[in-house]
Amino acid sequence: MLRLKVGLIGCGTIGSSLAQILSREFPKVAQLRYLCDHHPEKAAALQRSLKVKTSIASSLDLIRQSDLIIEAASASISGDVALQSLKQGKQVLIMSVGGLVDENIHRRLGKIQKGKLWIPSGAIAGVDGLLASSTGELKRVRLVTRKPPQGLQSAPYFKTHPFPKLKNSQEVRVFCGKASEAVKAFPQNINVAAVLSLAGLGPHRTEVEIWTSLRYKINQHEVFIESDSGKIQAVAMNLPAKENPKTSQLAIRSAHALLRKVFSNIRIGT
Ligand SMILES: NC(=O)c1ccc[n+]([C@@H]2O[C@H](COP(=O)([O-])OP(=O)(O)OC[C@H]3O[C@@H](n4cnc5c(N)ncnc54)[C@H](O)[C@@H]3O)[C@@H](O)[C@H]2O)c1
Repeated sequence: MLRLKVGLIGCGTIGSSLAQILSREFPKVAQLRYLCDHHPEKAAALQRSLKVKTSIASSLDLIRQSDLIIEAASASISGDVALQSLKQGKQVLIMSVGGLVDENIHRRLGKIQKGKLWIPSGAIAGVDGLLASSTGELKRVRLVTRKPPQGLQSAPYFKTHPFPKLKNSQEVRVFCGKASEAVKAFPQNINVAAVLSLAGLGPHRTEVEIWTSLRYKINQHEVFIESDSGKIQAVAMNLPAKENPKTSQLAIRSAHALLRKVFSNIRIGT
């Protein structure tokens, strides 16, 4: 079997984990060949830590030369990475899903008839049920995210809105709106809203609430789905990744599981 040449854009927490996973678990079917990061020292550090031989490349060269592109960098480039990869008939796995809900990008992606776009569920549970429900009549999709204050304070939303003064164990809802607004207001935190939008009712009909409290110690995402097949409620209580408290361990595991799907002939789950 021909080994897929893999290129990785973004050599941070998720990218580095996936690079190690690729070389450890899939050496017979995939070969990590190219690395790219806008901080070259990060790509160089990852390159040194890997047992396989890789080259550092620009994102354009990386896309041209890889069969499978993994993006784990930023929502500011993920849309372009997806578009460029699909146009060249490549497979592409996007972690910064927030960058795909932009209407222009979404429309252009929908027109490309080649390549394959892989989007992991990320830090939420329930995407399988949402996809199944959406083959019937989907009525309502709502995400309620609970995060400790330190995981939210740096969000752009709080440049124009005051951060609430929190007391004791009081819980405060800091945001209530559509996913289309949430991905802009909380770009670091809200890839999950983007995944739900793409799998379900779209960014203008997917509802998002964000809550905080001094008593929250971990990130929690609760998904509520109503459809003509019934109701689904799924909760993920996420531990942070060791290297980056803003990233949930489950997001890395989700991409790991998706890579197993990419490389396996047995695929479980909708
Ligand atoms: N889908 C999900 O559930 C989910 C969960 C967590 C994080 N994410 C997203 O995945 C991405 C990576 O997360 P992380 O925790 O590894 O972040 P990180 O900050 O640890 O790593 C990101 C890396 O990408 C590099 N980078 C940033 N912009 C770049 C660009 N334009 N070109 C090349 N490299 C660039 C940075 O230098 C850094 O090395 C982020 O966009 C994050 O929002 C998605």
